[in-house]
Amino acid sequence: MTATPHGQEHLKVLVRRSAIQRRVREMGRQISRDFRGERVHLIGVLKGASIFLSDLIRQIRLEVSLDFMAVSSYGKGSQSSGQVRLTKDLDTSIEGLNVILVEDILDTGLTLHYLCRVLQQRKPRALRIAALLDKPERRVREVKADYVGFQIPNEFVVGYGLDYAERYRNLKDVCILSLPPE
Ligand code: IMP
Ligand code: MG
Repeated sequence: MTATPHGQEHLKVLVRRSAIQRRVREMGRQISRDFRGERVHLIGVLKGASIFLSDLIRQIRLEVSLDFMAVSSYGKGSQSSGQVRLTKDLDTSIEGLNVILVEDILDTGLTLHYLCRVLQQRKPRALRIAALLDKPERRVREVKADYVGFQIPNEFVVGYGLDYAERYRNLKDVCILSLPPE
């Protein structure tokens, strides 16, 4: 384990880049098997899922299309406001498509619960969830992800797309961020 001091904040590697790579490859294979002979439409939840999505899509051996949504659920800090708001909608219709909603982390479940409700109304053929990380202890809303990279403990993590106040998205490993007491 490495600890990288960054002011008063400290990073500790939780999931190494090599483990992420391996797992994302497996997830892509599984999606390719599950939808064999069909087309899938990936929807990334901006911005956190962008890195995961860009790796995952290249591991899927099917006809794939891509769109993005953005929501705001977190403020600048690490605590959820509990409110979800759509800030960017899809560019195209998803009616009749095999949709895979791609998210960085499933935490309280509020975001994915909200997005699934919105997307289900638009009559996709299938709606699945792929989340790189899952913190089951934190769940407030019942949401089941179909493809999960790693279940992790109740810690605030950054890296591989995940941020703290827009920082650390570029880290190659998923790291636990310890913050100084407020
Ligand atoms: P949920 O609505 O509580 O499930 O939260 C989902 C969103 O909260 C994710 O898409 C992340 O943007 C953010 N989030 C939750 N936990 C973490 C974390 O540990 N680090 C960084 N962002 C997080
Ligand atoms: Mg997010």
